Amino acid sequence: MTEYGTLSVRHLTSIAELDRKDVDTIFALAKRVKAERYTFPKPLANQRLMLLFEKESLRTRVTFDVAMQDLGGSAIYIDQQDVRLGAREALKDVARNLSRWCHGIVARTYRHRTVLDLAKHAEIPVINGLTDFLHPCQGLTDFFTMTEVFGSVEGRTFAYVGDGNNTCHSLIHCAALLGCHIRVAGPEGYEPNSKVVNHAMRIAKETGSEVSILEDPQQAVDGADAVYTDVWASMGQEEETEERAERFSPYRVDSELMAAAKPGAIFLHCLPAHRGAEVTSDVIDSDCSKVLQNAENRLHVQKAILLLLMGQNPLG
Ligand code: CP
Ligand code: NVA
Repeated sequence: MTEYGTLSVRHLTSIAELDRKDVDTIFALAKRVKAERYTFPKPLANQRLMLLFEKESLRTRVTFDVAMQDLGGSAIYIDQQDVRLGAREALKDVARNLSRWCHGIVARTYRHRTVLDLAKHAEIPVINGLTDFLHPCQGLTDFFTMTEVFGSVEGRTFAYVGDGNNTCHSLIHCAALLGCHIRVAGPEGYEPNSKVVNHAMRIAKETGSEVSILEDPQQAVDGADAVYTDVWASMGQEEETEERAERFSPYRVDSELMAAAKPGAIFLHCLPAHRGAEVTSDVIDSDCSKVLQNAENRLHVQKAILLLLMGQNPLG
């Protein structure tokens, strides 16, 4: 499917593996499939996408399934109860079996290593649908939405307020690559992974982005073009919910914090949101909130990713 362009990678496990041209290619194709939502051809006819999910999902599961159907193919979903990745049989055997029946895999796992091992052994493209470490489809979509709103994100300022988690890591990767300044504010002990930050700082030197890790949410949001937050306790951290609620309460995105951003600034969240915790209802339901546009864009961006990766599939 080279008519849509090609990517420098066979799998999408991390935005850190993509180059600027890859992201431009994904965004250009996402824009096209969005504009041609009901008229786009069905180039993935007869292709099957395996959705292997160890964790819950609404958006990722539904958007990949709808994307496959819209593009002429179909998706098969297996959850943790059935797959028990690495427990019932070796991951290598799961990857090699699936490669004989399917044309792509989307995996949502606890350990990031699981997605990397699937990619290592699969003969078909593997897409990271969220791990404890990264959420690349989300990060790409968030910046696609930013480009829709602002035209270009270069030189804009993106404020992430809250936990230095999987979503935050992918946002840092994407911001640095696209030359967007990113300020992350969270409590001590919940900062983003230092390897992610150091990698982004190296990339940022070439792209003109500035990456700042702060503690003060006001300082992060001051004059920002976009304010982003995510849940305080991610999937797998449910036991820490109370402790985190206490530590993160100064980081709630409310209208007062939004007022510190640039006039016309937008609010984004990957969703699911915990209203009244990391974001207040008045902010998430306000005109500046682009969360639904962003959720819709998961569909378009992932269609582009599927077209670009499955087009390189030797079995496809
Ligand atoms: N944002 C996101 O990935 O949502 P789900 O967990 O519902 O897939
Ligand atoms: N950080 C969140 C993202 C959910 C889409 C989690 O991992 O649960």
